[in-house]
Amino acid sequence: MKSIIITGGAGFIGSHVVRLFVNKYPDYHIINLDKLTYAGNLANLKDIEDKPNYTFIKADICDFDKVLEVMQQYKVDGIIHLAAESHVDRSIKDPFTFAKTNVIGTLSLLQAARLYWESLPEKYENKRFYHISTDEVYGALEMTHPEGIEPPFKTTASSGEHHVAYGEEFFYETTKYAPHSPYSASKASSDHFVRAFHDTYGMPTIVTNCSNNYGPYQFPEKLIPLFINNIRHHKALPVYGKGENVRDWLYVEDHARAIDTIFHNGTVAQTYNIGGFNEWKNIDLIKVLIRTVDRALGNPEGTSEELITFVTDRAGHDLRYAIDSTKLQTELGWEPSLQFEEGIEKTVNWYLNNQEWMDNITSGEYENYYNEMYSNR
Ligand code: NAD
Ligand code: TYD
Repeated sequence: MKSIIITGGAGFIGSHVVRLFVNKYPDYHIINLDKLTYAGNLANLKDIEDKPNYTFIKADICDFDKVLEVMQQYKVDGIIHLAAESHVDRSIKDPFTFAKTNVIGTLSLLQAARLYWESLPEKYENKRFYHISTDEVYGALEMTHPEGIEPPFKTTASSGEHHVAYGEEFFYETTKYAPHSPYSASKASSDHFVRAFHDTYGMPTIVTNCSNNYGPYQFPEKLIPLFINNIRHHKALPVYGKGENVRDWLYVEDHARAIDTIFHNGTVAQTYNIGGFNEWKNIDLIKVLIRTVDRALGNPEGTSEELITFVTDRAGHDLRYAIDSTKLQTELGWEPSLQFEEGIEKTVNWYLNNQEWMDNITSGEYENYYNEMYSNR
């Protein structure tokens, strides 16, 4: 594998994947194909933009002709597809954009890859189409133990105050798809198209479904960076519903390492779940965040708890996500590297030390979006 397109490389997870591949594989040519929507930011890649094995191309994945041209020009043998509309709240307001980018965009990439690879003498040999998806396609799990139980798996949460699972059920690779939001419905649809291209045309595809990511460079409409920034500016923290929903959190660099492992060693046509067995109720997570940010800012403990503001719940808000990543851990030997509190500490420090990055995003257009979004809650 020498020439690889990474779509959505200017976004949150994509930028970590691009950085990892550019630094780790100097003999690969990494082509970052990104439309630079509101979520795409080339400042995420400042440290590697001058590397000789890196090229950025501003393009829309829905632009089939352009994608095909790039594939032919760079003789692409691998695609790692992360470009997407990724925020559930936006999908509730504007589902069409999600269908267009996530479904039609993925189909356009698949079709371009198919035309290009089938035109080569070796066809699909040593080629790979790797599609990055989410655990949200599986729907929501029951919370059979609201106070939590001893988890059946090794967890990345530290063993002190938090070390629980909120139910016996988990998302497995075999779990039936049951998406509830327009976002997850569009991702589910794209996953089906990817698998259909394997089954119908023999394209060597892989799909992975990962739990919630956190870490540096995440767009501040998502819970963790939004709340860190609001605490810093002493602004309200809008907690949806009662804050009882459970998410399973993974440090973004651990996801990028999993993508590297699976891209190179995963089996074609397989699905792998990616997660760190790290379930948190939103309200508990928010309290850890508050404690960590207050400590970093030198505020007395508990100062920012008064910012917690319970607001109207998200429509169709999935109750619990919890990934079982045993297959990836046992078959491919991947493991999360960080304990959760360590990851949160690193993340808080990164955002507090990169205020300019945050200010550039939260000024202007995004500020208007944010104010409108939250004034309606
Ligand atoms: P993000 O919103 O931060 O970034 C998305 C990137 O895609 C941006 O750079 C944007 O400019 C680009 N993009 C959007 N539409 C495009 C188009 N039409 N053509 C080309 N580029 C386009 O997203 P993220 O959080 O980094 O998520 C990346 C992928 O991982 C998505 O497919 C998402 O579904 C999946 N995922 C995310 C999480 C998470 O917690 N963030 C968890 C599991 C899976
Ligand atoms: P989010 O970061 O949007 O990720 P996802 O919806 O993909 O899980 O939200 C994480 C959780 O936090 C989710 O249960 C919704 C909740 N949430 C809030 O309570 N307030 C907020 O302002 C946001 C953005 C999210």
